[in-house]
Amino acid sequence: MIYKRSFLVLVLCCCSALMSAQDGYDLWLQYDKIDDDKVVENYLDHISGFHKFGSDETLDVATTELKTAFEGLVGQTLKELNSVEENSVVLGSEENLPSEIRAMLKSDLSEINSEGYVLKSLSLNNNRITVVTGKTDVGVLYGTFRLIKEMQLHNNITQCDIIDSPKIQKRLLNHWDNLDRTVERGYAGFSIWDWHHLPELIKPEYIDYARANASIGINGTVLTNVNASSLVLTSHYIEKVKALAEVFRPYGLQVYLTARFSSPMESGDLKTADPLDPEVRQWWKDKADEIYAEIPDFGGFLVKANSEGQPGPNNYDRSHVDGANMLAEAVAPHSGIVMWRAFVYSEDDPEDRAKQAYSEFVPFDGQFHDNVLVQVKNGPIDFQPREPFHPMFGAMPDTPLMMEFQITQEYLGFSSHLVYLPEMFEETLDEDTYVQGEGSTVAKVVDGTLSNKKLTGIAGVANIGTAKNWTGHPFGQANWYGFGRLAWDPYLDSEAIAKEWLKMTFSNEQEFVDPVKDLMIKSREAVVNYMTPLGLHHIMDTGHHYGPGPWVDDLGRPEWNPVYYHRATSEGVGFDRTESGSDALSQYAEPIREKYNSIETTPEKYLLWFHHVPWDYKMENGQTLWYNLAAKYQEGVEDVEEMVNTWNDIEEYVDDQRFEEIQMLLQIQLKEAKWWRNAVLLYFQQFSGKELPEFIPEPEYDLEYYQSLEFPYAPGISPSWH
Ligand code: GCU
Repeated sequence: MIYKRSFLVLVLCCCSALMSAQDGYDLWLQYDKIDDDKVVENYLDHISGFHKFGSDETLDVATTELKTAFEGLVGQTLKELNSVEENSVVLGSEENLPSEIRAMLKSDLSEINSEGYVLKSLSLNNNRITVVTGKTDVGVLYGTFRLIKEMQLHNNITQCDIIDSPKIQKRLLNHWDNLDRTVERGYAGFSIWDWHHLPELIKPEYIDYARANASIGINGTVLTNVNASSLVLTSHYIEKVKALAEVFRPYGLQVYLTARFSSPMESGDLKTADPLDPEVRQWWKDKADEIYAEIPDFGGFLVKANSEGQPGPNNYDRSHVDGANMLAEAVAPHSGIVMWRAFVYSEDDPEDRAKQAYSEFVPFDGQFHDNVLVQVKNGPIDFQPREPFHPMFGAMPDTPLMMEFQITQEYLGFSSHLVYLPEMFEETLDEDTYVQGEGSTVAKVVDGTLSNKKLTGIAGVANIGTAKNWTGHPFGQANWYGFGRLAWDPYLDSEAIAKEWLKMTFSNEQEFVDPVKDLMIKSREAVVNYMTPLGLHHIMDTGHHYGPGPWVDDLGRPEWNPVYYHRATSEGVGFDRTESGSDALSQYAEPIREKYNSIETTPEKYLLWFHHVPWDYKMENGQTLWYNLAAKYQEGVEDVEEMVNTWNDIEEYVDDQRFEEIQMLLQIQLKEAKWWRNAVLLYFQQFSGKELPEFIPEPEYDLEYYQSLEFPYAPGISPSWH
């Protein structure tokens, strides 16, 4: 027995040593040796060393990354050369490049912005060289990651001619991380910020986090939860934040913090936090000065105010403008910004929750200071599997609006379900607001081109934690990656992003990439189908939002209850947001307003978002709403079955560890898709009074069983027994 156990330990140790490279820690920056000899030869023929112009630490980071990647991908050391020679990679910012190279790249360089890059094959004094340059060293770093990516994708690099610049300025991750290291809506373990050991202990994860972000162009990170603690603004913590900022600086990654509005009373000793009180204003100015003295490139503050119990200017009968502008004045001398969130809905306001942010913020258009961005979630409710775009986009032409996406899957199966979110992000970015005629897409609002905005931004609520592979589900990495790519360029195609991520993360083999790319693209519609098809929304179970809970009707605030959103009766189901209902539709421009006002012309994907529809209503395919609802749930389950099969078919292309983990997770997803289908259909059946269509298998359990399930320890919230 003892012998057996030690043998098992030995085997396990060996396994983990062998497979550790494949635990997913390296994300999409896996620099495994390229197995195609021709590709390797091509790279060796064209790159024999590098030469850098400049001495910035960002440039050092770029060259170190290039060396690591080259060594891994082609198996040879990349030498640093003393001069520009045949086949060298030449790195340096525009001002540091020798004048003859600068002259050759003049027109290319005129096309990029301060973070853009030029990657170009040139002939210099009869030497073939590859130049990586930009206006700044951060641009050079981004260009270096691009060159590495070209190699990871096995692209030909003999005739490089790539010019690229980010289209959005502030490209941020928002960590909902608490100082006790729990992560609100986090499903990948605890917070990666080890506050207790900072500032002394700098973990390698911090560096790899910065590398990963730089590789996709993310240039800012808000370290703390929007439900903020004022403690992080005390000098004790500022020192810790400074340590992280120093690690991130060479990677072009700025740090930001969330500011709790009542901090002057909590971490200071003032009696009020009234934004018009001179002492309060001075307190914030002093606080900003204190932070900037330690962290000169501190990005600024993100604020959740007067939302879900957070303090804010309304507590003093002041407006969001008063609050935001006060903070903006404090950080302005240091070029800082304020991101003021528009995620507000009041417990005293009987108005449809979907309308409240617009009603509260749009009248303030043009009144915020220049360094304020209003941060708006993609849809008007809360990160559902599908929402129409938020009507604030386009409705505040004189205010920079920042997009907030959620990368962590609060309402989309946590880190148990494979859901490729860039497909969803793309759907929102491509939506036409029509505010300035056809083609006024959400992307154009966010990148500022629609109304000529000087300041632009986009944020993604991070799905990162202490899990070995960072995101819990291995495919969660694709959502971090894809967010970064769309933040860089909101016009990119999510399918192309999926392909490049797969190649960099798993395998370049077409037999692998094509089917798994299809699986990823379909995964988003699958989750909509098995959770909230046809425009249903917010019917997840309470608090933790894990699993179905359409029956929940006993929470403190009406709009926290799923019954508020689906409004099922024996007549029908859905939320009437037309003129005859809450009229939330009036917040959209024409022709959306008119088109969505009628059931017949509303896209079916938004049907129950905008209409209360009779169960017997005949839909486009001639079948009733009840029939179609059931069909969608069934389709969702079948979609996941297909995902399971696709994954089983590609086993030979993926290492055992990740293959098996994903296989097991897909089984969980399948089980939960069936759970959703059965629970929701049995629940709505009470209202429709109709038989389940024959294609729905007999549910395993009755409704009472599904209603009895409790998950007090579901991750992402503080555990509680009711
Ligand atoms: C959701 C989420 C909360 C979060 C909030 C926000 O409501 O459930 O945990 O704090 O969004 O975005 O502020």
